[in-house]
Amino acid sequence: MVIFSTKKLISHVIKPIVFIALLAPLLWLGWHWSLLLENQPNGLTANPIEYTNRFLGGWGLKYILLTLLVSPLSQLTAMRKLMLLRRMVGLFAFSYVLLHFTSYTVLDHYFNWAEIWQDIVKRNFITIGMLGLLGLVPLAVTSTNRMIKKLGAKNWKRLHMLIYPISILGVFHFSMMRKGDQLEPKIYWSVLVFLLGYRVYRFYQRRAGA
Ligand code: HEM
Repeated sequence: MVIFSTKKLISHVIKPIVFIALLAPLLWLGWHWSLLLENQPNGLTANPIEYTNRFLGGWGLKYILLTLLVSPLSQLTAMRKLMLLRRMVGLFAFSYVLLHFTSYTVLDHYFNWAEIWQDIVKRNFITIGMLGLLGLVPLAVTSTNRMIKKLGAKNWKRLHMLIYPISILGVFHFSMMRKGDQLEPKIYWSVLVFLLGYRVYRFYQRRAGA
């Protein structure tokens, strides 16, 4: 009988399962686009471009919050090895947000850079989204072990604290974009307040212990 260590269980079993789960929305989207292109019934609504853009943005934001959930979850359940999943979740968050921006650039604006630039500087919610995306770039670029070594763990940790303002920008972008019904943004704000509040609590708890 083969007995797996927790680390092996996470990297050989749980990680591939989580990878497929995180990829699933994209596979679903690709499948429905293929149905659309073959003139078959599909789930992309009467406005597939708007649907695609919102779908990718929505998953990008969910994955940003999921990235923030990994460390409280690992601390509260004492399953420290869950942290091995955090980088992958974060990279998925970045990929969905990048695809969200790509769909906006390609499908919405057909690479009309002048129009895109006007949108970025004139529409506040787009400016905020852009700041969020730009903030995610250094996090994705420095996500490799080599970069952690190069920057040093302390600097790397400091840089990756950027995820906190990015998550605020992401939820802010969402609630500004949703002009009428604020129920969904309110749910996202509540989750975010819990996730960031937990960090503040831990910070003061550590300081009191020191
Ligand atoms: C951290 C970065 C970002 C996050 C987390 C994010 C997330 C979202 C979310 C959750 C939505 C609404 C989805 C829904 O209604 O269900 C959305 C909509 C949208 N976002 Fe982003 N976004 C980001 C960056 C950007 C960037 C860089 C752009 C373009 C420059 C952009 C352009 C848009 C547009 C055009 C919409 C839809 C507006 C509409 O359909 O009326 N977003 N985004």
